[in-house]
Amino acid sequence: MRIISFVTQKGGSGKSTLASSIAAAAFETGERVFIIDMDPQQSLVQWSKTRNDKDIPVEAVGSDKLKKVLATLEKDGITLVLIDTPGAQSQATEAAMQNSDLCVIPARPNAFDLWSSETTRTVLKKIGTPYVFLLNQCPPAQQTGRIEEGAKALEAMGGLITPLISQRVDFQEATRHGLGVSEFAPSSPAADEIRKLWQSLKRRMAKTKTEKTSRKAA
Ligand SMILES: Nc1ncnc2c1ncn2[C@@H]1O[C@H](COP(=O)(O)OP(=O)(O)O)[C@@H](O)[C@H]1O
Ligand SMILES: [Mg+2]
Repeated sequence: MRIISFVTQKGGSGKSTLASSIAAAAFETGERVFIIDMDPQQSLVQWSKTRNDKDIPVEAVGSDKLKKVLATLEKDGITLVLIDTPGAQSQATEAAMQNSDLCVIPARPNAFDLWSSETTRTVLKKIGTPYVFLLNQCPPAQQTGRIEEGAKALEAMGGLITPLISQRVDFQEATRHGLGVSEFAPSSPAADEIRKLWQSLKRRMAKTKTEKTSRKAA
């Protein structure tokens, strides 16, 4: 079982949107996906209520229960857990960071988000969990100066994952219908980006695992 958390102190960068769409894209590839919603706003609990299918369960879990819930999910044969966290550093964020195989730090291409990413990265470095930055809500006319600058800034901090995710109404519509973007608009550019992103995350996790194993062997 692999565990990915979406963390950043910045609200509105796209944690819940990305978690729900990646959940659906991973489900499409045969994963048994479970979402843990640690945000008191419970965006993904709400998303799940809107969703007709119960194929991707969502549960609100507090930081004190996280370890126990994860152990149960592993026993139950879940292969992928996605954890959504609040928009501010909290016990929930800390617990999510500590118990994940990989943390995704989403940032919009603006200075405030980029500065927040740096703060989140500092916390993650201390904890020692692998992380990647993700540029979200980029204007679809790619490679404008602002995006390039954002990408460079995140690359300099280490580990910018590709593809960049564009700002597209499909993401908002999908969420409104309790769907991931690849379910809502299966042949859209947004669906294409999110499927590719899931493959990148998978590769990144495989790499982290190999690094851990070879470190142990050395
Ligand atoms: N790639 C995207 N394209 C368009 N809108 C997006 C995208 N990502 C997020 N949003 C929108 O931005 C807002 C904040 O996203 P949300 O997932 O709630 O962020 P967070 O969970 O980090 O606070 C929401 O209205 C959401 O629909
Ligand atoms: Mg959220």
